Amino acid sequence: MIDKATVQKITDAADIVEVVSDYVHLIKRGRNYVGLCPFHNEKTPSFSVNSVRNFCYCFSCKKGGSPVNFIMEKEGLTYHDALLHLASKYNIKVEEKELSDDERRQLNERESLLVANEWAASRMEKDLRDTEEGRSVGLQYLYQRGVTEEAIKKFRLGYNLDSGHALTDAAKLDAMDISSLSQVGVLGESQKMPGTYYDRFRGRVIFPVLNASGKVVALGGRDLKGGMAKYINSPESAIYKKSNELYGIFQAKSEIAKQDCCYLVEGYMDVIGMWQAGMENVVASSGTALTDGQIAMIHRFTDNITLIYDGDAAGIKASLRGIDMLLAHKMNVKVLLLPDGHDPDSFARANTPENFRKYVQEHATDIIRFKAQVLLKDIGNDPQRRVNAIQSVVQSLAHIPDKVKRNVYVQECSRILGVSEEVIESAVEKSRSDVMEQQRHQRQSGEIDRMKQDEQNPQPDLNKQLRPSKGREITEMYPFYPFERNVVYQCVRYGILDFCEVEFDDGTTDMINVAEFVAEEIQDDEIWFTFPAFAKTFNRILDLKEEFLNDRVAFNVNLEKEKKELLKSGYDEIASKNMSMEEIRRAERMLDERVNDEMAKRRFEFARYFVEQKLSSHHDDDVRRTVTEAMNEEQPLSNIYLRNNPVSERKMELDRMRMLVPRGVLEWKNELLNQRIRAKMKQLDSLLGHAEPAEQQNIILEIQALMEKRGQLGKVMGDRTIGTKIK
Ligand code: CTP
Ligand code: MN
Repeated sequence: MIDKATVQKITDAADIVEVVSDYVHLIKRGRNYVGLCPFHNEKTPSFSVNSVRNFCYCFSCKKGGSPVNFIMEKEGLTYHDALLHLASKYNIKVEEKELSDDERRQLNERESLLVANEWAASRMEKDLRDTEEGRSVGLQYLYQRGVTEEAIKKFRLGYNLDSGHALTDAAKLDAMDISSLSQVGVLGESQKMPGTYYDRFRGRVIFPVLNASGKVVALGGRDLKGGMAKYINSPESAIYKKSNELYGIFQAKSEIAKQDCCYLVEGYMDVIGMWQAGMENVVASSGTALTDGQIAMIHRFTDNITLIYDGDAAGIKASLRGIDMLLAHKMNVKVLLLPDGHDPDSFARANTPENFRKYVQEHATDIIRFKAQVLLKDIGNDPQRRVNAIQSVVQSLAHIPDKVKRNVYVQECSRILGVSEEVIESAVEKSRSDVMEQQRHQRQSGEIDRMKQDEQNPQPDLNKQLRPSKGREITEMYPFYPFERNVVYQCVRYGILDFCEVEFDDGTTDMINVAEFVAEEIQDDEIWFTFPAFAKTFNRILDLKEEFLNDRVAFNVNLEKEKKELLKSGYDEIASKNMSMEEIRRAERMLDERVNDEMAKRRFEFARYFVEQKLSSHHDDDVRRTVTEAMNEEQPLSNIYLRNNPVSERKMELDRMRMLVPRGVLEWKNELLNQRIRAKMKQLDSLLGHAEPAEQQNIILEIQALMEKRGQLGKVMGDRTIGTKIK
């Protein structure tokens, strides 16, 4: 947990223009900035950044939000980790609260292992370039293999000098923690002489493995001398579980999301080769079979994966490994075989990037089709092998969760394998129940572990939606949903602005704000927000009043100071000019007016944007989403009114608020009456014929009363709004 004050510090410091600029080239356009949206592919900029409101938004794909939202989305991080990310960008120290001693120890241990790895990786990056040996051996090797400068930098490649103690010595000089360096396997401890250390990666080119947030969790060292072990890798440690990492994910993740597709290759050099050929959405499983954890990591960014293997027998076999698991994860899987003997790295060097990309596009085959074809090829006339092949395809089909998709494949496989659809289908459905049984079993045994893991390391559910996609379903559960949404959105925009004076019984008066006005109004009819996310958000807005009043005092003090300074420098400037008394007086009057107007504008904006500033980075997903969506949906004021006329801009906003907020509340109440009337009518229907006339009469009277009330409401709202439908 990060404490509230620190969260505030981080969200205050995080400047949307600076944060977005790390990813997008922004151009100033009037009061805003625009650029190419980093969340989808586009040629003309629809991504807009508003520096006053500290908010970004894509008009095309609708993604965006506060700096925290942006980082969560862009880096695929949790709320918590996005805050840490921003804290480190702005050098804000974060003290995590509420950790037990044990947790703190673990965290410190992880931290010191990460520090050790980072130190080693940076050191070896430098040694690759800054030492004679690094250049003539390491760099030479990389150049010879066609690795470009750009790739060396991007993938942070390095070199461990060959002396066997270069890094050990440097670590001592830098006062690094030797035990951490040895735990992450950068240094090895001599067996003959415990307490003395050597460089485990000596004489090797270094490939650092970065996790999804860019931390060095492991190193791979490539032998250059034809020794026994081509690669040595970091051992598993508190920061490195081999089966949970993918080489290249940090460099590839945004491109994977953008291309909505991920290439999976085998090795370090393959990633680099693909990257250099312009296919940056590529990661490597580092020579092992894919794991659930790795698939889940890719799945955070895309549903589509293309496996790329060597076209020899081993490559074909490898491509068929693990596909059932991918299918079970609802991934769309394709496979691409390179010509026999080629891996992506060698193929990239043998072809131009254009040809390589073309080859990939033209040769990627759907995995099930591929499997059926491959298996069919080796059947020959052996009936047993034929049965095995069919069984194996059926097995894969059974792992596809989506029935429609499964059926499409059944048809296609029936054709390829020459077996009737019915036979395949019934085999698949039978196998499907086994698969589900198996999965349930795995889930149960893995459940507790995973729950623990999730708690420590919650993953953002990027696909989770605040509301079900179908409007019909939601209004069945929450009949006032569209009306509540309209009102809560207005409160996100205007909630803290003054609405009106109210007089209390004791004769005192007080100013209530827009949100309080809404609360009074709906309580009058004994209603409240029923949709949970709206209720939470609305309560947070009500809670903000005290904070607002306090903050406003400080804000005004500062504003006064600024005003004085502005006036002073303005007067000085006027005095420095050679003007007549008359001109001076006029200039001073204009200055006063300009400054006062500027101050009024700032005061207005302070209140107008207070709710969104406070809540668009709120820790609660529901609140943050509601606020972000309200901001996204906001229609900008028409430019005609705004041009060079700040007074009318403020006035326009206030007029709009005075019209929209009460209207939203009235429409909500009107719907309430409609529904009550409908319910009464139904009751009346069911009573007809077999109830006391007096009872019926009572209901009729109730209905009449409700209708009258509705009529009064209608007058208040004006006929214009009664018929208006809210979308
Ligand atoms: N690997 C490993 N240890 C080995 C061999 C391989 O850890 N002794 C892992 C590495 O992550 C390697 C991947 O398996 O990148 C694929 O192996 P391979 O294709 O043999 O290596 P390449 O990456 O192709 O390396 P190079 O082109 O330099 O031979
Ligand atoms: Mn290779």
